[in-house]
Amino acid sequence: MSHGTSSPGTRSFRTLDEAQVKGRRVLLRVDLNVPMENGRVSDATRIERVVPTIREIADNGGRVVLLAHFGRPKGKPEPKDSLHPVAAAVAEHIGRPVAFAEDCIGEAATEAVDALKDGDVVLLENTRFHAGEEKNDTDFVKALAANGDLYVNDAFSAAHRAHASTEGLAHVLPAYAGRTMQAELEALAKALEAPKRPVVAIVGGAKVSSKIDLLENLVTKVDALVIGGGMANTFLHAQGVAVGKSLAEKDLATTALKIMEKASAHNCAIILPVDAVVAWHFEANAPSQAYGLDAIPEDGMILDIGPQSIERVRAAIDDA
Ligand code: 3PG
Repeated sequence: MSHGTSSPGTRSFRTLDEAQVKGRRVLLRVDLNVPMENGRVSDATRIERVVPTIREIADNGGRVVLLAHFGRPKGKPEPKDSLHPVAAAVAEHIGRPVAFAEDCIGEAATEAVDALKDGDVVLLENTRFHAGEEKNDTDFVKALAANGDLYVNDAFSAAHRAHASTEGLAHVLPAYAGRTMQAELEALAKALEAPKRPVVAIVGGAKVSSKIDLLENLVTKVDALVIGGGMANTFLHAQGVAVGKSLAEKDLATTALKIMEKASAHNCAIILPVDAVVAWHFEANAPSQAYGLDAIPEDGMILDIGPQSIERVRAAIDDA
């Protein structure tokens, strides 16, 4: 956060403790990229995470303007990626009304923001409906900033992308970390700056491609790195394991091997699954079975780590 340097203790970013929000328009970036089923939010974890920040700003008289992305609409409006249905879910969780604006910039946004009274909340439409979001375009940043006096970022899970609403705004408005961002940054500092060793990190998710820098950095800092999720399949494939129809970025085999070499050079143990739970359909309650890595069925998909892998991860965590 470019404006966030003066703060209590050793913190290198500003938090809500230093923000004067009363009567001011607070652009609050949150991650509302939540799973939906039949038009309803099916897992509200990300909403729950940002409730304390929304409430704190609203309780202190700030006018909360929520900014978020949803899906990957590629810079133009896509009805299926509208944030409209998410507004009701946010309202339910914070226990107060949440208005909605059909656009995150321009007249629709300005009208909705001008209508706010102290303590009110509005959610603006998907920032990714504009190409300027992912390009971190200066004019788009300005258009977003026109509706705010302060910028608060509480979207840790989207903070690995330097987009207009996650990075650009911090250069043009006084910027603060929200409570979730603050908790995540403090936890990271505790684990990575002067930790009690051994330190074990656990990473997952679908893609190695979006996390190469992170993985290369982590292996120089931690004593063991547990790799799970779809990402583990890419590493297993790189080591010659036949992963059937599992999600895997097979073109990144060389990258995966390089990360493993770097880990070894820094004495970081890479802990990969040694067995896997396989299913034939990617859906809730699909029949599944555990297999050793030498016996993954050709037509099956690895969808979880197996019982022996769980024991290995448990042992690594017990040591940490
Ligand atoms: C996520 O769901 O992981 C974050 O919201 C980031 O979304 P993205 O991978 O589409 O940028």
